[in-house]
Amino acid sequence: MAIRIDGKAVSAQVLDNVATDAALFEQQFGLKPGLAVVLVGSDPASQVYVRNKIARATESGLNSIEHRLPADTTQDTLNQLVAELNADPSVHGILVQLPLPEHLDEDQIIRAIDPAKDVDGFHPVNVGALHIGEESLEPCTPQGCMIMLEQTLGNLSGKHAVVVGRSNIVGKPMAAMLLRASCTVTIVHSRTPNAAELASQADIVVAAVGRPEMIGADWVKPGATVIDVGINVIERNGQRKLVGDVDYAAVEPLAYAITPVPGGVGPMTIACLMKNTLTAARRLQSAS
Ligand code: GUN
Repeated sequence: MAIRIDGKAVSAQVLDNVATDAALFEQQFGLKPGLAVVLVGSDPASQVYVRNKIARATESGLNSIEHRLPADTTQDTLNQLVAELNADPSVHGILVQLPLPEHLDEDQIIRAIDPAKDVDGFHPVNVGALHIGEESLEPCTPQGCMIMLEQTLGNLSGKHAVVVGRSNIVGKPMAAMLLRASCTVTIVHSRTPNAAELASQADIVVAAVGRPEMIGADWVKPGATVIDVGINVIERNGQRKLVGDVDYAAVEPLAYAITPVPGGVGPMTIACLMKNTLTAARRLQSAS
């Protein structure tokens, strides 16, 4: 039986620390760390994510400011809001929920956010800083994966990690963080001819492809640790079901440790967003 890495429990520890630090911050500076969350349109999944982010922020003693804009919002209007949030000293973190409606340019909006308030860690300045080992705000999902890996395995130095997927949000920053922790890192993706063979040599497999249950037993070395970033809704036996990118039933018996879906990476992402907001607030306040 594999160790089931409990993302809910680990995220509760992270949020506990955030709440303690947020209270200290408020004592010291006379205001709460502030997180602005911007949602454009009414994508149902995004609405759920934003609701959860606001709830966790409030519970952790942060001030959360929600901005809901209609689906037909123009690029100029959104830019203007971002400019106001950049200039607002009570806002320490800015998150524009993605995906944006088709007519809006995501890359441009990400670049419009002050890198010091970019709690998603998506701004090119933060992306570059992560890759050269300078102080940055780091993307929340891979940060959450690293916390779970280090709690489970201790020092990761020298371990062979295979990241499945090369997205800007997860795959690429995940690889950068594993490399910083002195892992030997391989990224495999849709054009890798022998992806399963490579993954099956790894001590650590991080699955971030967005394909339901793609990673089967043939991808995983016995005794490996498996982190499943996928959140996919499928229909099985007439029922809607949430599954990861890993075929849990097939992989769990041979893994050393594995994250479930739901209850693995998901809660860690939100907890790390709160952690980033506190980090941003501390840096901004001590710079001002
Ligand atoms: N949509 C899905 N994941 C994310 C995320 O991590 N940040 C933002 N802003 N939008 C998302």
